[in-house]
Amino acid sequence: MPRDNMASLIQRIARQARLTFRGSGGGRGASDRSAASGPEAQMPPGFADKLNELKRLLTQVRAEDLNIAPRKAPLQPLPPSLPPVTYMHIYETDGFSLGVFLLKSGTSIPLHDHPGMHGMLKVLYGTLRISCMDKLEADGAHRPRGPPPEQQFEPPLPARERAALRPGVLRSRAEYTEASGPCVLTPQRDNLHQIDAVDGPAAFLDILAPPYDPDDGRDCHYYRVLEPVRPPRKEAASCELPREVWLLETPQSDDFWCEGEPYPGPKVSA
Ligand SMILES: [Fe+2]
Repeated sequence: MPRDNMASLIQRIARQARLTFRGSGGGRGASDRSAASGPEAQMPPGFADKLNELKRLLTQVRAEDLNIAPRKAPLQPLPPSLPPVTYMHIYETDGFSLGVFLLKSGTSIPLHDHPGMHGMLKVLYGTLRISCMDKLEADGAHRPRGPPPEQQFEPPLPARERAALRPGVLRSRAEYTEASGPCVLTPQRDNLHQIDAVDGPAAFLDILAPPYDPDDGRDCHYYRVLEPVRPPRKEAASCELPREVWLLETPQSDDFWCEGEPYPGPKVSA
């Protein structure tokens, strides 16, 4: 039997992630393109094929492949001292990180970014609602239409927040289950997301390439979406996506934090 078929699925995923993201760059100002978002002139040769193979492997993975038992919603409310989200570290190199985020019932990972990074999320159990956004350049053609920001919000924003507002675009909002393929982000496309557990606990396998590294320009920033006050005639269209939004960088919310827990699955060495 070929060596690859004897390896665990998570081992094959890690190996494919290493192949896919080797030489794909990173760091401040990293620039590349995914297979889904356009030209690959700045990507290493064969990147699209490798990424597609990684997507194929991720689509197959289930919670049992990682020895993770799907968790049930508790009958009683959880004590507020427990973390809403936990993380199982599986493997990390300079090129990528691999782990599992587990969200308790009714919790969210707030809107955050992945500067200069690729990301792939594959649901292992439960249902996640993932909202994907991007920041837009705050000049010229990308500036959203409409009145200036100080006139759009009720109550009006303090001057400090007004100055920090960034135009953005809410591109998509969709629900993912274990039957779904991976949700993919790139440095240029769907780089911000919010992840909500829907109707109970949920977990997803997460690949980030390269990993967060504040010393290399890849720190995690959190954002809040501000919805402008719209004239009544516009309300019907406000649910249509993509649509322009305003993004305000915020500190990490007091009610969101993440703690580690042991990974029970097959060992990985990429
Ligand atoms: Fe993320």
